[in-house]
Amino acid sequence: MAVVPVALAGRPYEVRIGAGLLAELVPNCTGRLRKRRVPLVTDANVHAAWGAVVANALAQSGHEAVWRILPPGEASKSWDALAATVDWLLAEEVERGDHILALGGGVIGDLTGFAAAIVKRGCQFIQLPTTLLAQVDSSIGGKTAINTAAGKNLVGAFHQPALVLADLAVLDTLPARELRAGYAEVVKYGLLGDADFFAWCDNNGAAMLAGDAALREYAVAHSVAAKARIVETDEFETKGARALLNLGHTFGHALEAETGFSDRLLHGEAVALGMVLAARYSARRGLMPKASAEHVAQHIAEAGLPSDLSGLGLDCDGHALTGHMLHDKKMDAGTLPFVLMKSIGAAFLARDVDLGDVAKFLDEELAR
Ligand code: GLY
Repeated sequence: MAVVPVALAGRPYEVRIGAGLLAELVPNCTGRLRKRRVPLVTDANVHAAWGAVVANALAQSGHEAVWRILPPGEASKSWDALAATVDWLLAEEVERGDHILALGGGVIGDLTGFAAAIVKRGCQFIQLPTTLLAQVDSSIGGKTAINTAAGKNLVGAFHQPALVLADLAVLDTLPARELRAGYAEVVKYGLLGDADFFAWCDNNGAAMLAGDAALREYAVAHSVAAKARIVETDEFETKGARALLNLGHTFGHALEAETGFSDRLLHGEAVALGMVLAARYSARRGLMPKASAEHVAQHIAEAGLPSDLSGLGLDCDGHALTGHMLHDKKMDAGTLPFVLMKSIGAAFLARDVDLGDVAKFLDEELAR
């Protein structure tokens, strides 16, 4: 097992990474489960796959799993689901010192974390991420949120978990498409600040995706350590460091909006294509060698992720895509900061990007 500390002043926590952590849930929670009944939030798919393992692990140590099972999918990150979950936690008489367990992907982690942030002005919670994407990104760093009619993740709070248990066994049952989508966030850490790790992905990504256990542990632990360092530096995304985690997300968000935040394009797939577009746009502006941008595109394509905008079959122009960007929550006093690259492993925040120029670039990419 790998253990990565997240060294936040006053609220340090561990991310434990290894196969079989859910089956050994109670010892891995190291004394945090102080009552017999343990509240868990999950979704119906995850409950079907992992509910019995978790309930048995708790029962073996004299605990009882008490479940709130939500419908799978982004629709559960809603005001209604939040209100119902908060009411359920209050009915369960959860106290501030109790730990609420979030068993699932990003949707469950974000919703449960937000509920934990506001119940009794803040309860403890433990992230049990069941997707690669949640293990390497959303379960770490304390961003919690729901979606509203105005957009995704517009209402939420920073609320750090007390512990994250990333059980690598869950990756064996994850659909291949979801695994690949999560891999985009692994590659992101190489692209944004670690050329050696991008080279590692070049050499090992395919075998990792195919199931090599040691490579999976390395990929998750390395990604988590990268994220932990960024969160320790810039917990509230005010100093620039954490904003680099948005590499590929501004282009990606526009693509998700254009495809209706649907299964047509998963979040990780949108980020993958978004990173290719960020690299190609950086090259177009003379910031990054064109060969490096095409290297990024080739790696993304070889991982089975979308790497060409023209391949999405969108019925829109570049202007329509930049129109979606105007509603991005990163808009700041009329400008939209973009994460661009000087080279693989050297991302930076550009505040001088003209959306008209981006629209022209996207028209070229749509016609490629
Ligand atoms: N997922 C981006 C962040 O945690 O800042």
